[in-house]
Amino acid sequence: MSLTLLSPLDMHLHLRDGEMLANIAKESAHTFSGALIMPNLVPPVSTKEEVIAYKQRIMAAIGHETFTPYMTLFFKPSYDKAFLTSIKDEITAIKLYPAGITTNSEGGVSGFDVEELRPALEAMSELGIPLCVHGETGGFVMDREAEFVSIYEKLATAFPKLVIIMEHITTKASVEALDRFENLYATITVHHLLITLDDVAGGMLKPHLFCKPIAKRPEDRDALLEVALKGHPKVMFGSDSAPHPKHAKESCGCAAGVFTAPVALQLLAELFENKLAPLENLQAFISGNAQRIYKLKPLAKTVMLEKKSFHVPSDYRGVVPMYADEQIAYSIKTVE
Ligand code: DOR
Ligand code: ZN
Repeated sequence: MSLTLLSPLDMHLHLRDGEMLANIAKESAHTFSGALIMPNLVPPVSTKEEVIAYKQRIMAAIGHETFTPYMTLFFKPSYDKAFLTSIKDEITAIKLYPAGITTNSEGGVSGFDVEELRPALEAMSELGIPLCVHGETGGFVMDREAEFVSIYEKLATAFPKLVIIMEHITTKASVEALDRFENLYATITVHHLLITLDDVAGGMLKPHLFCKPIAKRPEDRDALLEVALKGHPKVMFGSDSAPHPKHAKESCGCAAGVFTAPVALQLLAELFENKLAPLENLQAFISGNAQRIYKLKPLAKTVMLEKKSFHVPSDYRGVVPMYADEQIAYSIKTVE
């Protein structure tokens, strides 16, 4: 049995920089036609020169693969319309992090005062630049995302023409918010479709499944599955594949992030098959919806997957992937 995906897009990807970029970029660039590249480097990508230079380093790292890095900028309330106009053609979106909420987000936003954010968000709205948001408060870890829904509602109401993407949603509360506001969209990772908190911490602690936002309850996963499997038009695949060196994960003080880039498509193929979801819904989730929401024309890439057991390597140049050393049901057959 085999299935074909056209121009898969990963609308939330961490490619890092330097040696890590050189080591892992091809794992995405080989099977995906393009990806939205997160800006949380040290220091974060926040000027036109930094965006252009980072894109060049990514292009150098991917070699001859057919792949478009869709660049993002790290949101700052100080961005004005003149600056955003000058950078518009270099970026696909701007990513907003609450200050200190996750890896390298110290320079993010605190308070979420609409008037403070208005100049930048109004300019983005007028220029048609989407806002991607890491939606977690500083509250109790299991409630952070649900608590953030009221902030999404505030932003969606105050800026009704701004495209707002709730990144890597993990809760039923976020799924429900999608249908209440025309301008709210979401990405969902493959790991949050597969695991709950039980898989992370219910038995022996699994550092390679630890990420932010943390996996939640079965009913939350069910709500995510429902919209992903039906190819809900406001939902896109975004892996949030976030590589950290093995020693930073298998340590006292484990870094947050699941490295799924090399197994994401195979796991999605297996999941959609197991749940008897039509292939066209997977195609919408993996590419069609993102093309429409972000107005993208991705490079042509045809990925054929086959139902043939794949032994996930124990690591990719020092980075441990999800399901390392386990067998998964689908393999990549060809990429053209
Ligand atoms: O688990 C995560 N890792 N969540 C994020 O939001 C950031 C990411 C990273 O950059 O490592
Ligand atoms: Zn991320």
